[in-house]
Amino acid sequence: SNMTIGIDKISFQVPNYYLDMTDLANARETDPNKFHIGLGQDQMAINPETQDIVTLGASAAAKILTDEDKKDIDMVIVGTESSTDFSKSAAVIIHNLLDIQPFARSFEIKHACYGGTAALQQAHDYVSLHPDRKVLVIAADIAKYGLNSGGEPTQGCGAVAMLITKEPHILAFNNDSVFYSEDVYDFWRPAGHDYPLVDGHLSNQIYIDSFTRIWEQNKKINQTSSEDYAALTFHLPYTKMGRKALRAIFPEMPEEEQQRLEARYDEAILYSRQVGNLYTGSLYLGLLSLLDNSQLVAGDRVGLFSYGSGAVSEFFSMTLMEDYKKYLTSENNHTLLAQRKRLTIAEYEKMFNEKLPTDGGSHSFSDPTDFAINKIDGDIRYYNK
Ligand code: CAA
Repeated sequence: SNMTIGIDKISFQVPNYYLDMTDLANARETDPNKFHIGLGQDQMAINPETQDIVTLGASAAAKILTDEDKKDIDMVIVGTESSTDFSKSAAVIIHNLLDIQPFARSFEIKHACYGGTAALQQAHDYVSLHPDRKVLVIAADIAKYGLNSGGEPTQGCGAVAMLITKEPHILAFNNDSVFYSEDVYDFWRPAGHDYPLVDGHLSNQIYIDSFTRIWEQNKKINQTSSEDYAALTFHLPYTKMGRKALRAIFPEMPEEEQQRLEARYDEAILYSRQVGNLYTGSLYLGLLSLLDNSQLVAGDRVGLFSYGSGAVSEFFSMTLMEDYKKYLTSENNHTLLAQRKRLTIAEYEKMFNEKLPTDGGSHSFSDPTDFAINKIDGDIRYYNK
């Protein structure tokens, strides 16, 4: 059929604290240029213990949902690799916090940073069978590698929320996905580990190889070339990573084409430079940054490369709708980032080491942020509503 399905609304949330990457470089006796230029990161979002993926995901979604949406939503899918429970999903808690109608499905979906894309594609498939219903997709994560670890400068956190509907106002799917799976250990987090195990340089290599393979496959299957894309967006573990992948396909393009795509790339990484990695949400924060900060027009096609270590990747495209700019929350997005508090290194390290008590007892917290944890009792987290 020629019914359009896609992203009707999109927003994001980050905690109200960040660490400046120059401060981190100085504390770790590293040249700040390694972080700002070498990794392409200027600031890193830091969460207090009272803000988790539920808090971040619910806050992101609350900004875009109307009462009517809450009646029309049939599924809440949370893509994450920062779950706090092996059994109960963050989705069912968010479903409650947002007062979504009760006859809905709520579940979490996982494959490393690919989970947000798995959720989005699941949403697409559902809406194509049930065109009058809506699906809420949330990609939320807290990326932590440990103080003084190799991955420390590539931490971050936050959530992106997307409402998937028919006749969307922002972007429509083109049903052109190409996927790629390869069983490899570049980054993984076995049960019992607080932080991931990571072979950083291997992970960079697998990311680039996955992209170049999938790009070749996409050209074959969808008969496209770089000229068909107004912009290419990438999963952004740090903003230099996607640039390396983009540059890997430069040899096949004329120079103006390279410059055009690199200019769009620079617009797509503005937010991530200030946030860091939000795993499942990183690709979609990049998309949001592109929408807010570029001058793309209706009919333009945007390519999206999703990568989840371990490794599963997907490339697909979406087409911009008429007047899409009217449906963005660009000003709020800029304000959200600009209003955050800069932490000192000592504050960051203290916040990093704080953990919610797991003694089963009752403990109260006073974080006034929307949906923040206000109590933990019997190992149940209670959130501001
Ligand atoms: N000025 C400018 N640039 C500098 C510099 C300086 N003074 N010093 C170093 N650099 C450059 C280096 O040349 C290098 O650039 P290139 O990669 O373009 O050559 C860059 O800074 C990084 O330097 P190193 O490779 O020496 O850095 P490192 O050994 O500390 O490792 C890392 C970097 C592997 C990304 C590490 O931070 C890490 O393990 N991070 C976590 C894993 C990760 O993010 N992997 C990404 C792919 S996996 C994925 O995408 C899934 C996911 O979300 C995790």
